[in-house]
Amino acid sequence: MKEIKTIGVLTSGGDAPGMNAAIRAITRSAIYVGWRVFGIYRGYEGLIAGDFKELTTESVSNTIQKGGTFLKTARSKEFMTPEGRAKAFASLQRFGVDALIVIGGNGSLAGAQDFAREYDIPVVGLPGTIDNDLYGTDSTIGYDTALNTIVDCVDKIRDTATSHDRIFFIEVMGRDAGFLAQNSAIAAGAEAAIIPEDRKDIDQLEQFISHGRRKSKNSSIVIVSESKKDGGAMHYAERVKKEYPEYDVRVTILGHLQRGGSPSAYDRILASRLGYASIEALQEGQRNIMIGIDDDHVVYVPIDRAIKKDKPIDKELIDVLAVLSI
Ligand code: F6P
Repeated sequence: MKEIKTIGVLTSGGDAPGMNAAIRAITRSAIYVGWRVFGIYRGYEGLIAGDFKELTTESVSNTIQKGGTFLKTARSKEFMTPEGRAKAFASLQRFGVDALIVIGGNGSLAGAQDFAREYDIPVVGLPGTIDNDLYGTDSTIGYDTALNTIVDCVDKIRDTATSHDRIFFIEVMGRDAGFLAQNSAIAAGAEAAIIPEDRKDIDQLEQFISHGRRKSKNSSIVIVSESKKDGGAMHYAERVKKEYPEYDVRVTILGHLQRGGSPSAYDRILASRLGYASIEALQEGQRNIMIGIDDDHVVYVPIDRAIKKDKPIDKELIDVLAVLSI
């Protein structure tokens, strides 16, 4: 095994609050053990183009509290091709980088996995996405902050929903995962959450109308997970307008504001722990793993397991919401 002297770090896919805290932790932990660190700009795009800049302990000062990612990010189509990955490896060789740390979500770690299979270089992934959809970690970097942002917004929308006796369908992010929707619904006291993981054989809207919307409630909040398949909040609002014209319905799509803002204390600590652990893992000779947190302990998860898109939503969370919203 080649001795590691220099590492590269990049952020990829959708930005998430806490990514800067992770870059900071990686940089300082690596420098602490005597390694050099290159920040790679614009994710895999910058990896291919050789957009590298050496990071020092000072270059990550004053970043832990900042949202977004100072390394910038991208969704690279070129890295999905073998030719793109060959250029990426050439860049790493040019800068003498012996190991790569990728902070990103499902797609980004899938790219890391392909790369690690094709080239003999240790690759370690950190779960960085607001979606929380990576298997093997209780939480991903950015998820807690996004959840709090959503709850804050829903609290505000409830004021106007109550004043007007309206039903609000609030669409939240999460891609194909309902963690943000389900848990923000519980935290904001919403009447229902419509999520992709819930039983496919039930009409979740019908269920909300018939069970969830009791007579004494004049206003309701329904959190809807964004979905390409069923059309998201707009689709459900249109259906209610058609099938139950007596209800006054509005839609709010929270959109990208969910990705911004200063990371919560939880995300800063999570990112710091995972960043630190990624250097320890590389020192131990680990490769092709994602670092996660399970039951408050740092764990190593094979990347191919983490990205399988089969992280379940605890049935208990579905029951809690169903009971507490009666
Ligand atoms: O994966 C993070 C995420 O914010 C998803 O929740 C959402 O579906 C997607 O990214 C939006 O991507 P973009 O910023 O490219 O529009």
